[in-house]
Amino acid sequence: MERIVLAYSGGLDTSVAIPWLAEKYQAEIVAVTLDLGQGKELDDVRERAMSVGAVRCHVLDVRAEFAEQYVLPSLQAGALYEGQYPLATALGRPLIAKRLVEIAKMESAGAIAHGCTGKGNDQVRIDVSARALNRAIRVVGPAREWGMSRPAEIAYARERGIPVPATVDSPYSTDSNLWGRSIECGVLEDPWTEPPEEVYTLTKSPADTPDAPAHVELDFEQGVPTAVNGVAMPLVELIGSLETIAGAHGVGRIDMVENRLVGIKSREIYEAPAAVMLHTAHRELETLVTPRDLERIKRRLSCEYADLVYNGLWFTPTRRAIDKLVADVQQRVTGSVRLKLFKGACWVVGRKSPYALYEEALATYDEGDQFDHSAAEGFIKIWGLPVELAAAKQPGADV
Ligand code: ARG
Repeated sequence: MERIVLAYSGGLDTSVAIPWLAEKYQAEIVAVTLDLGQGKELDDVRERAMSVGAVRCHVLDVRAEFAEQYVLPSLQAGALYEGQYPLATALGRPLIAKRLVEIAKMESAGAIAHGCTGKGNDQVRIDVSARALNRAIRVVGPAREWGMSRPAEIAYARERGIPVPATVDSPYSTDSNLWGRSIECGVLEDPWTEPPEEVYTLTKSPADTPDAPAHVELDFEQGVPTAVNGVAMPLVELIGSLETIAGAHGVGRIDMVENRLVGIKSREIYEAPAAVMLHTAHRELETLVTPRDLERIKRRLSCEYADLVYNGLWFTPTRRAIDKLVADVQQRVTGSVRLKLFKGACWVVGRKSPYALYEEALATYDEGDQFDHSAAEGFIKIWGLPVELAAAKQPGADV
């Protein structure tokens, strides 16, 4: 009998996928649920998978691996898709594919399956990543094959005694992990409509946040965030603690229309309180310690990196090569950044590093200035020489 390893979230789509795959492919279904920090959605997920017909359900806590090997490199790379989205959903996909492929091998299964639709980016990320890791693996996407509308799917579930969660009435499609939440569908599909407050669960409305700002000091060691307000924490806890602080001040809401890999534009809402704070702080510290030309190169690579994560190209030589350069840049990224949070905004109010290339004695306009003003004249003469020449010999100009 064929065996299929299914990425199981516990929601309606993947619950329906279990009997659907079993019937269509005459297969045994092994469910796999990864804890990526999505929180309470994981309660009794194993029982749910078994009750709808899975032969086994593996539940794995991969939060530390996700934070250290996927989130951290993307933070250090400065990866914000189209300048804004910290890529929470996108970063989770290669790790899901990796675990599915590993468990398929362990279970002697020839295929893996996921609940992604045929219109989104996530199917691309999982399929491409899985085949990078095992070229022979078959990937089945029941939700892109079954052609059921939402009501038909609910009817299918009811016929087979699959519990339909109360949240099925929610008009939104969401995905979450420790790096953030993605929300789409419903009224959000009109990009002119303001997101209703109900879509947000991690961040308070700025109208309800404290009337006094909060200061948060973040320490980094070689590009790794290590402490919040002087308290050292492992990465997963540090992200969780920033989520609480930033969320309470309404920081981390993103409302954007983005370019999907499959060629359409879509309106997406994100909540990424910790990611917004960490990107803001990390970028500031890196700027303080990095020479100008390298900083420019790094900034261009950030954009490339975000695109490749978004586009499902995690397991590629390109990503590995950029990671190496980024890791080299991180050697100097040690120090502290002080952020101020107030009414939905978060900004830098202080930075320091033993490797800072900022020197007060060179920058100051007060006494103690060590900048060689007399050298400026000669420097400007040489620097401006090509400008002078080109301007003097401009075609059509009076020479
Ligand atoms: N647009 C985001 C991405 O491609 C999120 C996709 C999942 N969103 C969701 N609401 N289910 O990474």
